[in-house]
Amino acid sequence: MKIFQEIIQQTDFQQEDLVRLLSAENEERILLFEKASQVKRETIGNKVYFRGLVEFSNICSKDCLYCGIRKSNTNVIRYDVANSEILEACRFAWENRFGSVVLQSGELSSPVFVNRVDHLLKEIKKLSNGELGITLSCGEQSRETYRRWFESGAHRYLLRIESSNPELYKKIHPDNEHHFYEKRLECLHLLKETGYQTGTGVMIGFPFQTLEDLADDLLFFKKMDIDMIGMGPYVEHEDTPLYVYRHLLKTRQERFDLALKMVATLRLLMPDVNIAAATALQAIDPVGREKAVKVGANIIMPNLTPCDYRKEYQLYEGKPCLDEDASLCKNCLEARIEISGSEIGYGEWGDSKHYLRKTGRS
Ligand code: 5AD
Ligand code: FES
Repeated sequence: MKIFQEIIQQTDFQQEDLVRLLSAENEERILLFEKASQVKRETIGNKVYFRGLVEFSNICSKDCLYCGIRKSNTNVIRYDVANSEILEACRFAWENRFGSVVLQSGELSSPVFVNRVDHLLKEIKKLSNGELGITLSCGEQSRETYRRWFESGAHRYLLRIESSNPELYKKIHPDNEHHFYEKRLECLHLLKETGYQTGTGVMIGFPFQTLEDLADDLLFFKKMDIDMIGMGPYVEHEDTPLYVYRHLLKTRQERFDLALKMVATLRLLMPDVNIAAATALQAIDPVGREKAVKVGANIIMPNLTPCDYRKEYQLYEGKPCLDEDASLCKNCLEARIEISGSEIGYGEWGDSKHYLRKTGRS
């Protein structure tokens, strides 16, 4: 069997190598984190980019078994942030020299919704003289919709695969035509074809998931030649069907630690991609995102959702920053990032080097 010190020096990894890295404990765990930190510094430097996150609606037509804003959860008050407030949040991002914003919502595909997002994209471009980068995270859509939104100014799209194992995907989604793994995969291909910088990711530590599944998730990102990845620990939510399996879960601390190891291992596997420090990390550890930055992540998404709405966008329990306004959120993040030895890339889009290299722009 290969020794751990040899595995972390590799630049290509088999599933068994990745499982070994994800199982690292004690000194091995420290070695993994140090190596990932070194690879990050040497490949993409120590800059962290901000993406201001606006969760503009929690109305969702889907019923994912883990998600707190699923359609069947009647304990949630549904909201739609007014366009004027969304644009105000984006103006805040632009004036504070965040390179980009992320517009995220529950999944809808009605013509009214599609037109609304289209309108918002054009308005955001206008208010920022075309300077703000725009990422969308609005779920599965048709080829035409993806194209329309791209033409109106969105250039990145986040759509997590949640699990790259179709059997496991089935276990955490309702068994109906609105929740097909194949559809999700097809959407990722459509996004790439349309020209988006494409982001995906998985939840870490949900019931029935194994280390082999997680290693395969990492290999999936590589095979799909993904530009940006966001992955965070699964955090159970009591108003969801998956809650009944909570006895199968690792402790929250173990899930958190596994998420850090996923970030570090991914940095070794794909040195030049953008990796987000997921907000769910902070639901478990107050400085969780900063810890992820130390071991390989380079993107942080400060929450710019107007405060009144935040508590109704609880995908999981203990979501942080529920009552901080945008400027407080920014100040507190800034201080923490600087503590973790990184620099903030103000006013820059911070496209992944992976994407720039692929498209011949670097
Ligand atoms: N725990 C952690 N992450 C979750 N998400 C949804 N529900 C949960 C949960 N209970 C994540 C999904 C989704 C993203 C927006 O939030 O991965 O893609
Ligand atoms: Fe809204 Fe899954 S519950 S997309």
